[in-house]
Amino acid sequence: VSTVVETDVLIVGSGPAGASAALALSTYGVPNLVVTRYASLADTPRAHITNQRTMEVLRDLGVEQEVVAQATPQHLMGNTTFCTSLAGEELGRVRSWGNDPLVQAEHELASPTRMCDMPQHLMEPVLVDAAVARGTRLRFETEYLSHTQDADGVTATVRDRLRGDTYEIRAKYLIGADGGRSKVASDAGLPMGGQMGVAGSVNIVFEADLTRYTAHRPSTLYWVLAPGATVGGIGAGLVRCVRPWTEWLIVWGYDVTAGAPDLTTAYAESVVRKLVGDDDIPVTIKSSSAWTVNEMYAERYSNGRVFCAGDAVHRHPPSNGLGSNTSIQDAYNLAWKLKLVLDGTAGPALLDSYTAERAPVGRQIVTRANRSIRETAPVFEALDGLSPQTPEQLWANIAARKDATEAAEKQRDRLREAIAFKVYEFNAHGVDLNQRYTSHAIVPDGTPDPGFARDPELHHQPSSRPGARLPHAWITSGTRTLSTLDTVGRGRFTLLTGIGGEGWVRAAEAQDIEIATVVIGPGQEFEDPYGDWARLREITDTGALLVRPDGFVAFRHASAAPDAGELLADTLRRILGHA
Ligand code: FDA
Repeated sequence: VSTVVETDVLIVGSGPAGASAALALSTYGVPNLVVTRYASLADTPRAHITNQRTMEVLRDLGVEQEVVAQATPQHLMGNTTFCTSLAGEELGRVRSWGNDPLVQAEHELASPTRMCDMPQHLMEPVLVDAAVARGTRLRFETEYLSHTQDADGVTATVRDRLRGDTYEIRAKYLIGADGGRSKVASDAGLPMGGQMGVAGSVNIVFEADLTRYTAHRPSTLYWVLAPGATVGGIGAGLVRCVRPWTEWLIVWGYDVTAGAPDLTTAYAESVVRKLVGDDDIPVTIKSSSAWTVNEMYAERYSNGRVFCAGDAVHRHPPSNGLGSNTSIQDAYNLAWKLKLVLDGTAGPALLDSYTAERAPVGRQIVTRANRSIRETAPVFEALDGLSPQTPEQLWANIAARKDATEAAEKQRDRLREAIAFKVYEFNAHGVDLNQRYTSHAIVPDGTPDPGFARDPELHHQPSSRPGARLPHAWITSGTRTLSTLDTVGRGRFTLLTGIGGEGWVRAAEAQDIEIATVVIGPGQEFEDPYGDWARLREITDTGALLVRPDGFVAFRHASAAPDAGELLADTLRRILGHA
Protein backbone atom coordinates (compact mmCIF):
# COMPACT_ATOMS: atom_id res chain seq x y z
CA VAL A 1 0.00 0.00 0.00
CA SER A 2 1.46 3.28 -1.00
CA THR A 3 1.49 5.96 1.69
CA VAL A 4 0.75 9.50 0.56
CA VAL A 5 2.66 12.24 2.28
CA GLU A 6 1.43 15.80 1.69
CA THR A 7 3.16 19.15 1.59
CA ASP A 8 2.92 22.48 -0.22
CA VAL A 9 6.34 22.38 -1.87
CA LEU A 10 8.34 19.22 -2.39
CA ILE A 11 12.04 19.88 -2.92
CA VAL A 12 14.26 17.20 -4.45
CA GLY A 13 17.87 17.66 -3.34
CA SER A 14 19.63 19.19 -0.33
CA GLY A 15 22.50 20.90 -2.16
CA PRO A 16 22.85 24.70 -2.20
CA ALA A 17 19.75 25.12 -4.40
CA GLY A 18 17.44 22.77 -2.50
CA ALA A 19 18.68 23.75 0.96
CA SER A 20 18.28 27.46 0.31
CA ALA A 21 14.86 26.95 -1.29
CA ALA A 22 13.81 25.11 1.88
CA LEU A 23 15.32 27.81 4.08
CA ALA A 24 13.59 30.65 2.23
CA LEU A 25 10.23 28.85 2.09
CA SER A 26 10.33 27.98 5.80
CA THR A 27 11.35 31.54 6.62
CA TYR A 28 8.26 32.70 4.73
CA GLY A 29 6.08 30.14 6.50
CA VAL A 30 5.47 27.88 3.50
CA PRO A 31 5.23 24.16 4.40
CA ASN A 32 7.90 22.23 2.51
CA LEU A 33 9.55 18.85 2.47
CA VAL A 34 13.03 17.98 1.20
CA VAL A 35 13.93 14.53 -0.05
CA THR A 36 17.56 13.75 -0.67
CA ARG A 37 19.17 10.64 -1.99
CA TYR A 38 22.03 10.07 0.40
CA ALA A 39 22.34 9.58 4.16
CA SER A 40 24.22 12.83 4.63
CA LEU A 41 24.74 16.28 3.19
CA ALA A 42 27.73 16.98 0.91
CA ASP A 43 30.75 15.15 2.32
CA THR A 44 33.33 16.90 0.12
CA PRO A 45 34.15 20.63 -0.16
CA ARG A 46 32.83 21.14 -3.76
CA ALA A 47 31.72 24.75 -4.38
CA HIS A 48 33.28 27.39 -2.12
CA ILE A 49 33.55 30.93 -3.51
CA THR A 50 30.64 32.81 -1.94
CA ASN A 51 29.99 36.17 -3.54
CA GLN A 52 28.46 39.34 -2.15
CA ARG A 53 25.05 38.77 -3.71
CA THR A 54 24.80 35.34 -2.08
CA MET A 55 25.91 36.83 1.23
CA GLU A 56 23.13 39.43 0.88
CA VAL A 57 20.63 36.62 0.34
CA LEU A 58 21.96 34.80 3.41
CA ARG A 59 21.83 38.06 5.37
CA ASP A 60 18.15 38.42 4.53
CA LEU A 61 17.57 34.78 5.49
CA GLY A 62 19.31 35.37 8.83
CA VAL A 63 22.33 33.06 8.45
CA GLU A 64 25.02 35.47 7.22
CA GLN A 65 26.92 35.51 10.53
CA GLU A 66 26.97 31.72 10.78
CA VAL A 67 28.62 31.59 7.38
CA VAL A 68 31.09 34.36 8.24
CA ALA A 69 32.04 32.48 11.42
CA GLN A 70 33.03 29.35 9.48
CA ALA A 71 34.26 30.70 6.16
CA THR A 72 37.80 31.64 5.20
CA PRO A 73 37.71 35.45 5.14
CA GLN A 74 38.19 37.48 2.00
CA HIS A 75 41.68 38.73 2.85
CA LEU A 76 43.03 35.16 2.83
CA MET A 77 41.54 34.39 -0.59
CA GLY A 78 43.21 36.75 -2.96
CA ASN A 79 46.76 35.97 -4.17
CA THR A 80 45.79 33.69 -7.02
CA THR A 81 49.19 32.26 -7.88
CA PHE A 82 50.51 30.67 -11.07
CA CYS A 83 53.46 28.35 -10.47
CA THR A 84 55.21 25.23 -11.69
CA SER A 85 54.31 23.56 -8.36
CA LEU A 86 53.73 24.94 -4.88
CA ALA A 87 57.38 24.32 -4.04
CA GLY A 88 58.50 25.26 -7.54
CA GLU A 89 58.85 28.49 -9.45
CA GLU A 90 56.27 31.20 -9.20
CA LEU A 91 55.21 32.71 -12.54
CA GLY A 92 52.97 35.50 -11.26
CA ARG A 93 49.90 36.35 -9.21
CA VAL A 94 46.52 38.00 -9.64
CA ARG A 95 45.04 39.97 -6.75
CA SER A 96 41.63 38.41 -6.81
CA TRP A 97 38.22 38.06 -5.18
CA GLY A 98 38.13 41.75 -4.31
CA ASN A 99 41.65 41.93 -2.89
CA ASP A 100 43.02 44.38 -5.44
CA PRO A 101 42.76 47.74 -3.59
CA LEU A 102 40.71 49.33 -6.37
CA VAL A 103 38.38 46.35 -6.63
CA GLN A 104 38.19 46.16 -2.85
CA ALA A 105 36.81 49.70 -2.82
CA GLU A 106 34.19 48.62 -5.35
CA HIS A 107 33.24 45.67 -3.14
CA GLU A 108 32.91 47.94 -0.11
CA LEU A 109 30.77 50.40 -2.02
CA ALA A 110 28.55 47.71 -3.54
CA SER A 111 27.27 45.76 -0.58
CA PRO A 112 27.00 45.53 3.19
CA THR A 113 28.47 42.01 2.92
CA ARG A 114 31.89 40.56 2.18
CA MET A 115 32.81 37.80 -0.19
CA CYS A 116 34.19 34.70 1.55
CA ASP A 117 35.23 31.11 0.96
CA MET A 118 32.66 28.72 2.41
CA PRO A 119 33.21 25.11 1.33
CA GLN A 120 29.99 23.33 0.42
CA HIS A 121 30.28 20.68 3.16
CA LEU A 122 30.16 23.55 5.68
CA MET A 123 27.56 25.64 3.84
CA GLU A 124 24.92 22.93 3.45
CA PRO A 125 24.56 22.23 7.20
CA VAL A 126 24.10 25.97 7.91
CA LEU A 127 21.29 26.19 5.35
CA VAL A 128 19.66 22.88 6.22
CA ASP A 129 19.86 23.33 10.01
CA ALA A 130 18.20 26.74 9.79
CA ALA A 131 15.57 25.41 7.37
CA VAL A 132 14.70 22.47 9.63
CA ALA A 133 14.62 24.74 12.70
CA ARG A 134 12.06 26.87 10.85
CA GLY A 135 9.85 23.99 9.81
CA THR A 136 11.31 22.16 6.81
CA ARG A 137 10.75 18.40 6.91
CA LEU A 138 13.81 16.53 5.64
CA ARG A 139 14.01 12.92 4.51
CA PHE A 140 17.48 11.51 3.94
CA GLU A 141 18.02 8.35 1.89
CA THR A 142 14.93 9.14 -0.12
CA GLU A 143 15.28 9.05 -3.87
CA TYR A 144 13.01 10.82 -6.30
CA LEU A 145 11.91 8.38 -9.03
CA SER A 146 9.22 10.10 -11.11
CA HIS A 147 6.34 12.54 -11.03
CA THR A 148 3.00 13.28 -12.62
CA GLN A 149 1.12 16.53 -12.46
CA ASP A 150 -2.48 17.66 -12.79
CA ALA A 151 -4.35 20.93 -12.41
CA ASP A 152 -4.02 20.97 -8.61
CA GLY A 153 -0.62 19.58 -7.88
CA VAL A 154 2.22 17.18 -8.41
CA THR A 155 2.50 13.57 -7.27
CA ALA A 156 6.06 12.34 -6.94
CA THR A 157 7.07 8.75 -6.41
CA VAL A 158 10.07 8.28 -4.16
CA ARG A 159 11.99 5.31 -2.83
CA ASP A 160 12.99 4.96 0.79
CA ARG A 161 16.49 3.59 0.36
CA LEU A 162 16.61 2.21 3.90
CA ARG A 163 13.41 0.20 3.74
CA GLY A 164 13.54 -0.31 -0.01
CA ASP A 165 9.87 0.56 -0.59
CA THR A 166 8.37 3.30 -2.70
CA TYR A 167 5.64 5.76 -1.80
CA GLU A 168 4.04 8.92 -3.11
CA ILE A 169 4.36 12.54 -2.04
CA ARG A 170 1.62 14.93 -3.06
CA ALA A 171 2.59 18.60 -3.31
CA LYS A 172 1.22 21.76 -4.85
CA TYR A 173 4.62 22.48 -6.41
CA LEU A 174 7.79 20.51 -7.03
CA ILE A 175 11.28 22.03 -7.03
CA GLY A 176 13.90 19.94 -8.81
CA ALA A 177 17.17 20.90 -7.12
CA ASP A 178 18.72 17.55 -7.92
CA GLY A 179 21.98 18.72 -9.45
CA GLY A 180 23.80 18.31 -12.75
CA ARG A 181 22.20 14.98 -13.65
CA SER A 182 18.72 16.19 -12.74
CA LYS A 183 16.05 13.56 -13.26
CA VAL A 184 13.35 16.09 -12.39
CA ALA A 185 14.47 18.44 -15.20
CA SER A 186 14.59 15.57 -17.65
CA ASP A 187 11.21 14.15 -16.55
CA ALA A 188 9.74 17.66 -16.87
CA GLY A 189 11.15 17.85 -20.38
CA LEU A 190 13.06 21.09 -19.85
CA PRO A 191 14.81 21.97 -23.11
CA MET A 192 18.60 22.11 -22.74
CA GLY A 193 21.19 23.86 -24.90
CA GLY A 194 24.91 23.11 -25.00
CA GLN A 195 26.94 20.04 -24.28
CA MET A 196 27.88 17.74 -21.40
CA GLY A 197 31.26 16.07 -20.95
CA VAL A 198 33.42 18.68 -22.71
CA ALA A 199 36.52 17.71 -20.69
CA GLY A 200 37.45 15.34 -17.87
CA SER A 201 38.57 16.31 -14.36
CA VAL A 202 39.52 14.63 -11.13
CA ASN A 203 39.04 16.13 -7.65
CA ILE A 204 41.45 14.91 -4.97
CA VAL A 205 40.80 15.98 -1.38
CA PHE A 206 43.80 15.69 0.93
CA GLU A 207 45.36 16.89 4.15
CA ALA A 208 48.89 18.28 4.22
CA ASP A 209 50.48 21.15 6.07
CA LEU A 210 51.43 23.42 3.18
CA THR A 211 51.89 26.55 5.33
CA ARG A 212 55.45 26.98 4.13
CA TYR A 213 54.34 27.32 0.50
CA THR A 214 51.13 29.26 0.95
CA ALA A 215 50.87 31.41 4.09
CA HIS A 216 53.12 34.14 2.64
CA ARG A 217 50.87 34.42 -0.42
CA PRO A 218 47.48 33.52 1.07
CA SER A 219 45.06 32.37 -1.59
CA THR A 220 42.12 30.17 -2.34
CA LEU A 221 43.65 29.04 -5.63
CA TYR A 222 47.16 28.04 -6.74
CA TRP A 223 47.38 27.19 -10.45
CA VAL A 224 50.04 24.78 -11.56
CA LEU A 225 51.55 24.79 -15.06
CA ALA A 226 53.20 21.40 -15.15
CA PRO A 227 53.61 18.89 -17.99
CA GLY A 228 50.21 17.34 -18.70
CA ALA A 229 48.30 20.25 -17.14
CA THR A 230 46.64 21.22 -20.42
CA VAL A 231 45.04 17.80 -20.89
CA GLY A 232 41.29 18.02 -20.13
CA GLY A 233 40.41 19.71 -16.88
CA ILE A 234 39.85 23.38 -16.23
CA GLY A 235 42.82 25.03 -17.94
CA ALA A 236 45.66 24.01 -15.64
CA GLY A 237 46.31 21.97 -12.51
CA LEU A 238 44.70 23.54 -9.47
CA VAL A 239 45.52 23.35 -5.77
CA ARG A 240 42.59 24.83 -3.88
CA CYS A 241 42.63 25.69 -0.23
CA VAL A 242 39.81 24.15 1.79
CA ARG A 243 41.07 25.16 5.24
CA PRO A 244 44.20 27.35 5.57
CA TRP A 245 46.73 25.77 5.18
CA THR A 246 46.14 22.12 5.99
CA GLU A 247 43.15 20.91 3.93
CA TRP A 248 43.24 20.98 0.15
CA LEU A 249 41.47 19.96 -3.02
CA ILE A 250 43.35 19.35 -6.26
CA VAL A 251 41.69 19.53 -9.65
CA TRP A 252 43.59 17.70 -12.37
CA GLY A 253 42.41 16.94 -15.91
CA TYR A 254 42.20 13.76 -17.92
CA ASP A 255 41.49 13.02 -21.58
CA VAL A 256 37.73 12.57 -21.62
CA THR A 257 37.88 10.39 -24.75
CA ALA A 258 40.15 7.93 -22.91
CA GLY A 259 37.91 7.75 -19.83
CA ALA A 260 38.61 8.57 -16.20
CA PRO A 261 41.80 7.21 -14.63
CA ASP A 262 41.64 4.50 -11.99
CA LEU A 263 41.33 6.59 -8.82
CA THR A 264 43.64 4.59 -6.58
CA THR A 265 45.40 6.17 -3.61
CA ALA A 266 48.69 5.74 -5.49
CA TYR A 267 47.30 7.71 -8.45
CA ALA A 268 45.98 10.46 -6.15
CA GLU A 269 49.32 10.67 -4.33
CA SER A 270 51.23 10.95 -7.60
CA VAL A 271 49.09 13.93 -8.68
CA VAL A 272 49.47 15.57 -5.27
CA ARG A 273 53.26 15.10 -5.39
CA LYS A 274 53.43 16.63 -8.86
CA LEU A 275 51.43 19.73 -7.93
CA VAL A 276 52.92 20.24 -4.45
CA GLY A 277 56.46 19.53 -5.59
CA ASP A 278 57.82 18.54 -2.19
CA ASP A 279 57.91 14.81 -1.48
CA ASP A 280 58.94 15.32 2.15
CA ILE A 281 55.57 16.75 3.18
CA PRO A 282 53.26 14.10 4.69
CA VAL A 283 50.04 13.80 2.70
CA THR A 284 46.80 12.04 3.66
CA ILE A 285 44.41 11.41 0.77
CA LYS A 286 40.79 11.78 1.91
CA SER A 287 38.88 11.10 -1.31
CA SER A 288 39.05 11.21 -5.10
CA SER A 289 36.29 11.57 -7.65
CA ALA A 290 36.02 12.11 -11.39
CA TRP A 291 33.71 14.65 -13.02
CA THR A 292 33.31 16.34 -16.39
CA VAL A 293 33.34 19.94 -17.53
CA ASN A 294 29.87 20.74 -18.89
CA GLU A 295 28.54 23.63 -20.93
CA MET A 296 24.80 23.23 -20.70
CA TYR A 297 21.85 25.38 -19.70
CA ALA A 298 18.08 25.02 -19.76
CA GLU A 299 16.12 27.39 -22.00
CA ARG A 300 13.15 27.05 -19.65
CA TYR A 301 13.27 26.43 -15.90
CA SER A 302 9.74 25.18 -15.36
CA ASN A 303 6.96 23.07 -16.75
CA GLY A 304 3.57 23.56 -15.14
CA ARG A 305 3.98 23.07 -11.40
CA VAL A 306 7.54 21.81 -11.65
CA PHE A 307 10.43 24.26 -11.21
CA CYS A 308 14.11 23.46 -11.43
CA ALA A 309 16.97 25.36 -9.81
CA GLY A 310 20.75 25.17 -9.54
CA ASP A 311 22.90 22.73 -11.50
CA ALA A 312 19.70 21.06 -12.68
CA VAL A 313 19.36 23.98 -15.11
CA HIS A 314 22.92 25.32 -15.49
CA ARG A 315 25.91 23.00 -15.74
CA HIS A 316 29.35 24.49 -15.98
CA PRO A 317 32.88 24.20 -14.58
CA PRO A 318 33.86 25.84 -11.26
CA SER A 319 35.70 28.73 -12.97
CA ASN A 320 34.56 32.10 -11.57
CA GLY A 321 33.07 30.24 -8.60
CA LEU A 322 29.48 30.66 -9.72
CA GLY A 323 27.85 27.25 -9.14
CA SER A 324 26.60 27.42 -5.60
CA ASN A 325 26.09 31.22 -5.80
CA THR A 326 23.78 30.99 -8.79
CA SER A 327 21.94 28.02 -7.27
CA ILE A 328 21.20 29.92 -4.05
CA GLN A 329 20.10 32.98 -6.02
CA ASP A 330 17.76 30.87 -8.20
CA ALA A 331 16.08 29.55 -5.09
CA TYR A 332 15.77 33.00 -3.57
CA ASN A 333 14.14 34.29 -6.77
CA LEU A 334 11.62 31.45 -6.78
CA ALA A 335 10.72 31.16 -3.08
CA TRP A 336 8.85 34.44 -2.57
CA LYS A 337 6.91 33.92 -5.78
CA LEU A 338 5.76 30.47 -4.63
CA LYS A 339 4.81 31.93 -1.27
CA LEU A 340 2.63 34.66 -2.81
CA VAL A 341 0.98 32.25 -5.23
CA LEU A 342 0.34 29.67 -2.50
CA ASP A 343 -1.24 32.19 -0.12
CA GLY A 344 -3.44 33.55 -2.90
CA THR A 345 -1.81 37.00 -3.06
CA ALA A 346 -0.53 36.41 -6.59
CA GLY A 347 -1.79 34.51 -9.58
CA PRO A 348 0.24 31.63 -11.06
CA ALA A 349 1.44 33.98 -13.85
CA LEU A 350 3.93 35.44 -11.35
CA LEU A 351 5.79 32.14 -11.56
CA ASP A 352 6.46 32.65 -15.28
CA SER A 353 8.87 35.41 -14.32
CA TYR A 354 11.18 32.79 -12.80
CA THR A 355 12.40 31.52 -16.17
CA ALA A 356 12.31 35.00 -17.68
CA GLU A 357 14.61 36.33 -14.96
CA ARG A 358 16.89 33.41 -14.16
CA ALA A 359 17.43 31.60 -17.48
CA PRO A 360 19.44 34.52 -18.96
CA VAL A 361 21.60 34.53 -15.81
CA GLY A 362 22.15 30.77 -16.08
CA ARG A 363 23.15 31.03 -19.70
CA GLN A 364 25.51 33.92 -18.96
CA ILE A 365 27.34 32.13 -16.17
CA VAL A 366 27.69 28.86 -18.12
CA THR A 367 29.24 30.81 -20.97
CA ARG A 368 31.46 32.87 -18.66
CA ALA A 369 32.79 29.87 -16.75
CA ASN A 370 33.69 27.98 -19.92
CA ARG A 371 35.29 31.04 -21.50
CA SER A 372 37.44 31.42 -18.37
CA ILE A 373 38.89 27.96 -18.98
CA ARG A 374 39.88 28.94 -22.50
CA GLU A 375 41.42 32.18 -21.25
CA THR A 376 44.02 30.22 -19.31
CA ALA A 377 45.59 29.00 -22.57
CA PRO A 378 47.49 32.28 -23.20
CA VAL A 379 49.39 31.74 -19.95
CA PHE A 380 50.71 28.49 -21.40
CA GLU A 381 51.18 30.07 -24.83
CA ALA A 382 53.40 32.75 -23.29
CA LEU A 383 55.66 29.90 -22.17
CA ASP A 384 55.34 28.12 -25.49
CA GLY A 385 53.70 25.43 -23.42
CA LEU A 386 50.89 24.33 -25.71
CA SER A 387 52.98 22.80 -28.49
CA PRO A 388 53.80 19.11 -28.09
CA GLN A 389 57.06 18.78 -26.23
CA THR A 390 58.89 16.86 -23.56
CA PRO A 391 58.71 17.99 -19.93
CA GLU A 392 62.36 19.05 -20.23
CA GLN A 393 61.48 21.41 -23.08
CA LEU A 394 58.63 22.93 -21.05
CA TRP A 395 60.96 23.52 -18.10
CA ALA A 396 63.53 25.05 -20.48
CA ASN A 397 60.87 27.40 -21.90
CA ILE A 398 59.86 28.43 -18.42
CA ALA A 399 63.49 29.00 -17.44
CA ALA A 400 64.10 31.03 -20.61
CA ARG A 401 61.93 33.86 -19.31
CA LYS A 402 64.78 34.80 -16.98
CA ASP A 403 67.25 35.46 -19.83
CA ALA A 404 68.61 38.93 -20.51
CA THR A 405 67.42 38.89 -24.13
CA GLU A 406 64.84 40.81 -26.10
CA ALA A 407 62.96 37.59 -26.74
CA ALA A 408 62.86 36.82 -23.03
CA GLU A 409 61.58 40.31 -22.25
CA LYS A 410 58.79 39.81 -24.78
CA GLN A 411 57.99 36.51 -23.15
CA ARG A 412 57.86 38.16 -19.72
CA ASP A 413 55.45 40.78 -21.12
CA ARG A 414 53.19 38.15 -22.64
CA LEU A 415 53.15 36.13 -19.46
CA ARG A 416 52.35 39.18 -17.33
CA GLU A 417 49.52 40.18 -19.66
CA ALA A 418 48.09 36.65 -19.87
CA ILE A 419 48.07 36.32 -16.08
CA ALA A 420 46.59 39.80 -15.59
CA PHE A 421 43.78 38.97 -18.06
CA LYS A 422 42.59 36.30 -15.64
CA VAL A 423 40.76 39.03 -13.70
CA TYR A 424 37.77 37.94 -15.79
CA GLU A 425 37.79 34.74 -13.78
CA PHE A 426 39.05 35.94 -10.40
CA ASN A 427 37.71 39.47 -10.07
CA ALA A 428 34.53 39.57 -12.14
CA HIS A 429 32.55 41.71 -9.74
CA GLY A 430 30.09 42.74 -12.45
CA VAL A 431 29.24 39.11 -13.22
CA ASP A 432 28.42 38.71 -9.53
CA LEU A 433 26.22 41.78 -9.15
CA ASN A 434 25.01 43.28 -12.44
CA GLN A 435 21.93 41.14 -13.07
CA ARG A 436 19.13 43.08 -14.74
CA TYR A 437 15.78 41.32 -14.86
CA THR A 438 13.20 41.76 -17.61
CA SER A 439 9.85 40.07 -16.96
CA HIS A 440 6.19 40.66 -16.16
CA ALA A 441 7.23 41.03 -12.52
CA ILE A 442 9.17 44.20 -13.37
CA VAL A 443 7.38 47.36 -14.51
CA PRO A 444 9.57 49.53 -16.77
CA ASP A 445 9.57 53.25 -15.96
CA GLY A 446 10.07 54.37 -19.54
CA THR A 447 13.67 55.53 -19.04
CA PRO A 448 16.17 54.35 -21.64
CA ASP A 449 18.61 51.60 -20.65
CA PRO A 450 21.75 53.54 -19.71
CA GLY A 451 23.98 50.53 -20.48
CA PHE A 452 27.21 50.15 -18.57
CA ALA A 453 29.84 52.86 -18.26
CA ARG A 454 32.62 50.31 -17.70
CA ASP A 455 33.19 46.64 -18.52
CA PRO A 456 29.99 45.03 -17.17
CA GLU A 457 31.76 41.75 -16.36
CA LEU A 458 34.41 43.40 -14.20
CA HIS A 459 32.65 46.35 -12.61
CA HIS A 460 29.45 46.57 -10.65
CA GLN A 461 27.20 49.45 -11.65
CA PRO A 462 24.44 50.28 -9.19
CA SER A 463 21.09 51.29 -10.57
CA SER A 464 17.59 51.81 -9.24
CA ARG A 465 16.06 51.23 -12.66
CA PRO A 466 13.31 48.58 -12.50
CA GLY A 467 14.92 45.15 -12.93
CA ALA A 468 18.10 46.04 -11.04
CA ARG A 469 18.89 45.10 -7.45
CA LEU A 470 18.31 47.93 -5.00
CA PRO A 471 21.60 49.86 -4.63
CA HIS A 472 23.34 49.50 -1.30
CA ALA A 473 24.01 52.65 0.74
CA TRP A 474 24.76 52.98 4.44
CA ILE A 475 21.93 54.87 6.15
CA THR A 476 21.12 55.39 9.82
CA SER A 477 18.18 54.92 12.13
CA GLY A 478 18.90 56.61 15.45
CA THR A 479 22.30 55.29 16.52
CA ARG A 480 22.05 52.26 14.25
CA THR A 481 23.83 52.11 10.88
CA LEU A 482 22.25 49.82 8.33
CA SER A 483 22.22 49.14 4.62
CA THR A 484 19.34 50.17 2.39
CA LEU A 485 19.24 46.43 1.61
CA ASP A 486 18.47 45.77 5.29
CA THR A 487 15.21 47.68 4.91
CA VAL A 488 13.91 45.29 2.24
CA GLY A 489 13.43 41.51 2.03
CA ARG A 490 11.92 39.25 4.71
CA GLY A 491 9.41 38.00 2.20
CA ARG A 492 7.60 41.32 1.72
CA PHE A 493 7.53 44.26 -0.66
CA THR A 494 9.04 47.58 0.47
CA LEU A 495 8.42 51.10 -0.73
CA LEU A 496 11.26 53.59 -0.36
CA THR A 497 10.65 57.31 -0.57
CA GLY A 498 11.86 60.60 0.97
CA ILE A 499 10.56 63.84 2.37
CA GLY A 500 7.42 64.83 0.45
CA GLY A 501 6.69 61.21 -0.41
CA GLU A 502 3.71 60.88 2.00
CA GLY A 503 1.42 60.24 -0.96
CA TRP A 504 3.41 57.11 -1.76
CA VAL A 505 3.39 55.97 1.86
CA ARG A 506 -0.38 56.36 2.09
CA ALA A 507 -0.80 54.59 -1.23
CA ALA A 508 1.39 51.68 -0.06
CA GLU A 509 -0.55 51.35 3.18
CA ALA A 510 -3.83 51.26 1.28
CA GLN A 511 -2.91 48.22 -0.83
CA ASP A 512 -4.32 44.77 -0.09
CA ILE A 513 -0.85 43.33 0.31
CA GLU A 514 1.65 44.15 3.06
CA ILE A 515 4.16 46.76 1.90
CA ALA A 516 6.79 48.02 4.33
CA THR A 517 7.45 51.74 3.96
CA VAL A 518 10.81 53.41 4.38
CA VAL A 519 11.15 57.17 4.42
CA ILE A 520 14.73 58.41 4.22
CA GLY A 521 15.59 62.02 5.03
CA PRO A 522 16.45 64.45 7.82
CA GLY A 523 14.20 63.92 10.86
CA GLN A 524 12.67 60.76 9.36
CA GLU A 525 12.92 57.17 10.66
CA PHE A 526 15.92 56.70 8.37
CA GLU A 527 18.55 59.31 7.56
CA ASP A 528 21.20 59.57 4.90
CA PRO A 529 24.04 61.32 6.74
CA TYR A 530 26.68 60.62 4.09
CA GLY A 531 24.40 61.56 1.20
CA ASP A 532 25.22 58.20 -0.43
CA TRP A 533 21.59 57.24 -0.89
CA ALA A 534 20.76 60.60 -2.47
CA ARG A 535 23.59 60.05 -4.95
CA LEU A 536 22.52 56.49 -5.83
CA ARG A 537 18.74 56.48 -5.80
CA GLU A 538 18.15 58.19 -9.20
CA ILE A 539 14.82 59.65 -8.03
CA THR A 540 13.95 62.85 -6.20
CA ASP A 541 12.93 63.11 -2.53
CA THR A 542 9.26 62.84 -3.45
CA GLY A 543 9.75 59.86 -5.80
CA ALA A 544 9.40 56.19 -4.92
CA LEU A 545 10.94 52.78 -5.48
CA LEU A 546 8.90 49.63 -4.98
CA VAL A 547 11.27 46.80 -4.12
CA ARG A 548 10.35 43.11 -4.35
CA PRO A 549 11.01 40.64 -1.54
CA ASP A 550 14.20 39.56 -3.35
CA GLY A 551 15.64 43.09 -3.28
CA PHE A 552 15.02 43.86 -6.96
CA VAL A 553 13.37 47.14 -7.95
CA ALA A 554 9.94 46.41 -9.46
CA PHE A 555 8.73 49.97 -10.02
CA ARG A 556 10.25 53.44 -9.99
CA HIS A 557 8.67 56.84 -10.12
CA ALA A 558 10.91 59.93 -10.20
CA SER A 559 8.72 62.25 -8.13
CA ALA A 560 5.37 62.61 -6.37
CA ALA A 561 2.31 61.47 -8.31
CA PRO A 562 -1.26 62.61 -7.65
CA ASP A 563 -2.46 59.16 -8.67
CA ALA A 564 0.10 57.28 -6.54
CA GLY A 565 -2.55 54.87 -5.24
CA GLU A 566 -3.68 53.88 -8.72
CA LEU A 567 -0.12 53.62 -10.00
CA LEU A 568 0.85 51.26 -7.18
CA ALA A 569 -2.32 49.21 -7.49
CA ASP A 570 -1.80 48.86 -11.23
CA THR A 571 1.87 47.94 -10.69
CA LEU A 572 0.97 45.26 -8.15
CA ARG A 573 -1.73 43.83 -10.41
CA ARG A 574 0.87 43.45 -13.16
CA ILE A 575 3.59 42.04 -10.95
CA LEU A 576 1.28 39.66 -9.14
CA GLY A 577 -0.17 38.32 -12.33
CA HIS A 578 -3.69 39.72 -11.89
CA ALA A 579 -3.55 42.14 -14.82
P1 FDA B 1 23.97 19.70 -5.95
O1 FDA B 1 24.59 18.77 -6.90
O2 FDA B 1 24.83 20.35 -4.95
O3 FDA B 1 22.83 18.97 -5.14
C1 FDA B 1 21.97 18.04 -5.71
C2 FDA B 1 21.21 17.37 -4.60
O4 FDA B 1 20.22 16.53 -5.15
C3 FDA B 1 22.06 16.49 -3.72
O5 FDA B 1 21.62 16.64 -2.39
C4 FDA B 1 21.77 15.09 -4.26
O6 FDA B 1 21.98 14.09 -3.30
C5 FDA B 1 20.31 15.25 -4.58
N1 FDA B 1 19.76 14.32 -5.57
C6 FDA B 1 20.19 14.09 -6.83
N2 FDA B 1 19.38 13.22 -7.44
C7 FDA B 1 18.41 12.89 -6.56
C8 FDA B 1 17.28 12.05 -6.60
N3 FDA B 1 16.96 11.36 -7.70
N4 FDA B 1 16.52 11.94 -5.49
C9 FDA B 1 16.81 12.63 -4.37
N5 FDA B 1 17.86 13.46 -4.28
C10 FDA B 1 18.66 13.58 -5.36
N6 FDA B 1 31.79 23.59 -7.76
C11 FDA B 1 32.80 24.44 -7.54
O7 FDA B 1 32.59 25.65 -7.66
N7 FDA B 1 34.04 23.99 -7.18
C12 FDA B 1 34.29 22.65 -7.02
O8 FDA B 1 35.42 22.25 -6.74
C13 FDA B 1 33.25 21.76 -7.21
N8 FDA B 1 33.43 20.43 -7.03
C14 FDA B 1 32.39 19.58 -7.14
C15 FDA B 1 32.58 18.24 -6.85
C16 FDA B 1 31.53 17.35 -6.93
C17 FDA B 1 31.76 15.90 -6.61
C18 FDA B 1 30.25 17.83 -7.33
C19 FDA B 1 29.09 16.88 -7.43
C20 FDA B 1 30.08 19.16 -7.63
C21 FDA B 1 31.13 20.06 -7.54
N9 FDA B 1 30.97 21.42 -7.80
C22 FDA B 1 31.98 22.26 -7.59
C23 FDA B 1 29.71 21.98 -8.28
C24 FDA B 1 28.87 22.53 -7.17
O9 FDA B 1 28.83 21.59 -6.15
C25 FDA B 1 27.48 22.81 -7.74
O10 FDA B 1 27.54 23.88 -8.66
C26 FDA B 1 26.46 23.15 -6.67
O11 FDA B 1 26.49 22.24 -5.63
C27 FDA B 1 25.06 23.16 -7.30
O12 FDA B 1 24.10 23.09 -6.31
P2 FDA B 1 22.75 22.28 -6.52
O13 FDA B 1 22.05 22.40 -5.23
O14 FDA B 1 22.11 22.75 -7.75
O15 FDA B 1 23.18 20.78 -6.83
